[in-house]
Amino acid sequence: MGTVYALASGKGGVGKTTITANLGISLAQRGKKVLLVDADIAMANLSLLLGMHSSPITLHDVLLGESSLQDAIYDGPGGIFFVPSGLSFESYRRVDSARLAGVIASVKDQFDYILLDAPAGIETNVMSALSASDNVLLITMPVSPSIADVLKTKIVAERLGAKPIGIIVNFVRNEKGEVLPEDIMKMLELPIYGLVPYDNDIRKSFMREKIMPTILFKPNSKAVAAINIIAEKLTGVQTTIKIKKKGPITRFLNKLFSIFKRKPKQPLEEKIGKKRVKEKIEESFDEEVLPEINEDNIEMEE
Ligand SMILES: Nc1ncnc2c1ncn2[C@@H]1O[C@H](COP(=O)(O)OP(=O)(O)OP(=O)(O)O)[C@@H](O)[C@H]1O
Ligand SMILES: [Mg+2]
Repeated sequence: MGTVYALASGKGGVGKTTITANLGISLAQRGKKVLLVDADIAMANLSLLLGMHSSPITLHDVLLGESSLQDAIYDGPGGIFFVPSGLSFESYRRVDSARLAGVIASVKDQFDYILLDAPAGIETNVMSALSASDNVLLITMPVSPSIADVLKTKIVAERLGAKPIGIIVNFVRNEKGEVLPEDIMKMLELPIYGLVPYDNDIRKSFMREKIMPTILFKPNSKAVAAINIIAEKLTGVQTTIKIKKKGPITRFLNKLFSIFKRKPKQPLEEKIGKKRVKEKIEESFDEEVLPEINEDNIEMEE
């Protein structure tokens, strides 16, 4: 029985699709049977990155109840199997994404790993992807808005019964002002699975005559090396990720701490620590922003 992983983020454009494609192929190169699913049913682009342009049967047809998932599985590049999302706006408007969990469960025993490229945000389609997964890999950039938003994704995932297992930090440039990995781990209370550097070789995927994930044309690139480490970690190989020791407090935490520093005569405020900061972030969005999760917008597990 395979394990289903959602690759999810709060903010868009943080590298979910890029990492899903390259990580999937990296797992396949390790002898695993891997299915990638474009669960971004509105803004599908995993097909494009995999260099697969037209697929007669898509996830839309499956979620409309018109085809079985089995018929929407295609051979992809690098030894992976792939379910495209569907590009028609008309069919997108009719699909019922709450069916995703049942549909994915129906092929779980055929694969070792099923990776779902989730949409950004916390709307219904994201919740469907999260509730269809066993584990969630949270993807963030090393900057405060991205981290604060992925914390929302983490909370929604937990409410849906999916297990956030780790963080992938993408677009790492090791520049001043980035939140350090150690702080990211503390804020999200999860281990880091990967630190993927900003790498121009990733952008070159789309600049080639034949579009393909970086791992297939530049396997020695820095970003691919980092993604290979994530694949090793997922397959149980002992890996060490070099994480910088905590430096001076980051700008992100400073900003949050400043909320409390407005009352300088209360020294306790100085000692509240990151736990309180995290609570503060949670309070800021909890009831208003998080969507209600119920039978109307999601298929609940029995
Ligand atoms: N490590 C990286 N270095 C350089 N460019 C990157 C890196 N990771 C992703 N990119 C580029 O950033 C852009 C966004 O990446 P991608 O589409 O994977 O993000 P996404 O999270 O799936 O976005 P969306 O939320 O819109 O689905 C792409 O052009 C991709 O090539
Ligand atoms: Mg994407």
